[in-house]
Amino acid sequence: MGLKGKVAIVTGGAMGIGKAIALRLARDGAAVGILDVNLTKAQEVVAELEEGGTRAFGVQCDVTNYTNAQEAVAAVARNLGAPDILVNNAGVDRQQFFLETDEKLWDWMISVNYKGFLVISHVTLPYMVEKKGGVIVNMGSDAGRVGNAREVVYSGTKAAVMASTKAMALEFARYGIRVNAVSPGPVQQTELLSGLFEGEIGEKIARLVPLRRLGRPEEVADVVAFFCSEDSRYLTGQVLSVDGGLTMVD
Ligand SMILES: NC(=O)c1ccc[n+]([C@@H]2O[C@H](COP(=O)([O-])OP(=O)(O)OC[C@H]3O[C@@H](n4cnc5c(N)ncnc54)[C@H](O)[C@@H]3O)[C@@H](O)[C@H]2O)c1
Repeated sequence: MGLKGKVAIVTGGAMGIGKAIALRLARDGAAVGILDVNLTKAQEVVAELEEGGTRAFGVQCDVTNYTNAQEAVAAVARNLGAPDILVNNAGVDRQQFFLETDEKLWDWMISVNYKGFLVISHVTLPYMVEKKGGVIVNMGSDAGRVGNAREVVYSGTKAAVMASTKAMALEFARYGIRVNAVSPGPVQQTELLSGLFEGEIGEKIARLVPLRRLGRPEEVADVVAFFCSEDSRYLTGQVLSVDGGLTMVD
C-alpha cells in the first residue's frame, strides 16, 4: 500500500496495459483517474476498481485535444484530488510497410503517441509543480529503441517520447518531480495490434525472446508501479525495457 493517499492518472486506462496499470496502482493504495477515448470501457474499469474499495473516476478524453485534456485532468482533481502520479500510456499503432502508409496515418500516430503525451503532461505538471512533487511514467516501446520494420512512424513517436522523458526529467527535477519511461517489448492480450501476437506469429516472436515468452500487461504494470513508488526515489530520466531480454540497450 505504498501509494496510499496518492492520486494517479492513467491515460488509455480502459484496456490492455493501461487497465493493468490502473488495477496495480489501485492495489498499491492510489486513487485512480482514468482518461480514455472509450468512456464505456473506462467506466467498466472504474466499477471494477470501486468494487475493490478504490476511489476511482473515469472521464472521456482524447489526449490529442488540449481543452478536452485540461478539463479531464481538472475533473479528476475535483473528484479525487490533485494528481501526484501521471502515467502517459495511451497509444496507437498499425503495422504496415512504410510505403503503404500515408500522411493521414502519420498525423494520427504522431498526434496520439507524441502530442498526446505532451498535452497531458502540460496540463498535469502545474498541479505537481504546485505540490513540489510528483511522478510521471511514460510508455515508450522497444520499437523506439531499436526500430521495428512495419513500424517506421510508430518507432519514431516512441523514440520521441523517450527522448522527451529525459528532457522533462531535467527540467522538473528542481520541483521534486521524477520522470521515467518503460519500454515494453511485445505484450500479449491487448487490443493495440488486434491479436497480432496470438497464435503462430506470437509463438515465433516468443522463440526470439531470451525468456521464451511474450510479456503480459501485468508485468509492464509492475515496473510502472516501481517507478511510481518510493523504491525508485533516486531514479529520474531513465528508460527501462520490459521485454524478457529481447533488446539489451545500454
Ligand atoms: N502491446 C504491446 O505489445 C506494446 C508494446 C510496446 C509498447 N506498447 C505501448 O503501451 C501502451 C498501451 O498499449 P496497449 O497494447 O495496452 O494498447 P490498447 O490498444 O490495448 O489500449 C490503448 C488504450 O488507449 C486508448 N486510446 C487510444 N487513443 C486514445 C486517445 N486519443 N486518447 C485517449 N485514449 C486513447 C484506447 O481506447 C485504449 O484504452 C501504448 O502506448 C503502446 O504503444 C504496447
